[in-house]
Amino acid sequence: MCGIIGVCGVGSSLDVVVQGLERLEYRGYDSAGLVSLENSGFVVSKFADGVSSVSSLAAWVRNRDLEDAPHQVRLALGHTRWATHGGATKENAHPHLDCTNRFAVVHNGIVENYRVLRSELMERGHHFRSETDTEVIVHLVEERFRLSLDLRQAVEEAFSRLEGAMAIVVSSVEEPDLLVGARRISPLVVGFGESMAFFASDIPALLGEAARFYHLEEGEAVALRGDDLGPTNGALVEMEVSWDLQSAQRDGYPDFMSKEIQEQARAVADTVAGRVGDDGLVIVDELRLDPEILRTVNKVFMVACGTSYHAAMVAKYFFEHYCRIPVELDISSEFRYRDPIVDAQTLVIGVSQSGETIDTLVALHEAKAAGARVMVICNVVGSSMARLADVVLYTRAGPEIGVAATKTHVAQIAALQIAGLYFASLRRNLYPSDVEELMAKLSEIPPAIATALASWKSFTDVAHELVDYRRFYFLGRHVGYPVALEGALKLKELSYLPSEGYAGGELKHGPIAMIDDKAVVVAIATKTRLYDKLMSNVEEVRARGARIVLVTNEGLGEPQRADLRFEVPRVFPLFSPMVDVLPLQALAYELAVAQGLNPDRPRNLAKTVTVE
Ligand code: G6P
Repeated sequence: MCGIIGVCGVGSSLDVVVQGLERLEYRGYDSAGLVSLENSGFVVSKFADGVSSVSSLAAWVRNRDLEDAPHQVRLALGHTRWATHGGATKENAHPHLDCTNRFAVVHNGIVENYRVLRSELMERGHHFRSETDTEVIVHLVEERFRLSLDLRQAVEEAFSRLEGAMAIVVSSVEEPDLLVGARRISPLVVGFGESMAFFASDIPALLGEAARFYHLEEGEAVALRGDDLGPTNGALVEMEVSWDLQSAQRDGYPDFMSKEIQEQARAVADTVAGRVGDDGLVIVDELRLDPEILRTVNKVFMVACGTSYHAAMVAKYFFEHYCRIPVELDISSEFRYRDPIVDAQTLVIGVSQSGETIDTLVALHEAKAAGARVMVICNVVGSSMARLADVVLYTRAGPEIGVAATKTHVAQIAALQIAGLYFASLRRNLYPSDVEELMAKLSEIPPAIATALASWKSFTDVAHELVDYRRFYFLGRHVGYPVALEGALKLKELSYLPSEGYAGGELKHGPIAMIDDKAVVVAIATKTRLYDKLMSNVEEVRARGARIVLVTNEGLGEPQRADLRFEVPRVFPLFSPMVDVLPLQALAYELAVAQGLNPDRPRNLAKTVTVE
């Protein structure tokens, strides 16, 4: 999704903006642009070079001959655009200027009522240069400024006319030391450095530059001055940010995905650490309701998108087994548009890496409005979802930059199991000693992940055997089923190869018709209760000529029953998805790299989806 960075104050430079855009690259984009306020007025540069747009912008900045070295400007706004309204062209790339070239805007989100606003503005004589929904914003600001001569007020008034979820930042030659930002649902953070103030879509864009971080309350426009480096009004709430610059850098790895894969043991260890208090109770990170209320819950919904949904699927097995409570799973974009039966005895658990995915965020808002209690599992402290939740459990995985989720996925599964233990102990489904025992099993996962990752080379060797195949099917049963779905999702995201995941028991109800000697079948065949049943499914596809790959444990999945094997350590079955998914990450990664694709930036995908 679009990325925004704005900077003002002494030290503001085009380099800071480009660096911020590079750190926002993970959001996905097809064009990029920036505007800087210089002695001559606004200078705009835009590139619609697809995934090269940010490097084109960086090269343009390097070659610029600015009056003040090194690339110093009064203020600047940068943007990466992921096209929604209007093609990925230079004209449609942000920033957009008004008719008089005195106002500039960058925007993330969608102005849902832009058609009406655009025709009104055109009737009043405004001239449009792009096909975007964004451009109406800057023309509205131009009009409102004429009335108040106050940029903050003009932006706030213009913003109140816009419908939909979005974040914007505006600057004007009329107030050359000021940046004004506003948001509704979509994320926008504020940072203050020693002599600079910033707006950005996300914290990693500002690491190393800003020392203090704030989030913006919704609706109110906030003005940042380059010479007044502190919160200017009540719409800013300080955030605790423990991420450091190094955690948002590649650190010698060829790409972020490789780095994040290797960080998985630590991510789970950090998520699990210190979760049991002296009183034997499980500790969550934020609790904004009386835990007694949670005891009355009689139904759980889990809502999420993409990889987070697969983590929720794994957790359903644990919750139902240990908490003895019905759990319904929903894809967020479906939940919000059906008529789910929720009331004050319903707990809705939102699972999200970013805490900003619009469909999950809106689903949780609606559940809350219907009286449900809301729990959030997410990786970003102070994110929109974390702020609206009654209970929060953070995955302490550190920033994840690669678009395809890896370390946050395994940490989500761990956090959800902890949530299950919390819930089971509150409801007295489990004795403290059972909780302790399961926690001990959970702490066995990080070393098991480390052992599996030590076999990375053997995983990639298997993957290389499969480079010529074009069709992949993943089979699993019980908690292996979400692992199969995740393996298929990773493979299609990164390598664009057709791949589907199925529950083994469903094989005969359709998928087996596609099996022939050109198909690869990857079965999640680690030790669970349904191992033998799954292996019968494997025999069925083997008999039809498919190339068989097993994810299995030592001593299982007899070599004669498979063409290739990924061997992973055997762990407690309900926790095994955190280990079993690792070779599937290797498979997706290697088959992408073998085709010359960048695993960090799969085409058409964005890490944080802040538009519907
Ligand atoms: C996008 C990302 C996925 C992610 C999904 C949900 O599709 O590409 O990796 O799983 O969004 O994101 P969330 O931040 O809510 O976990």
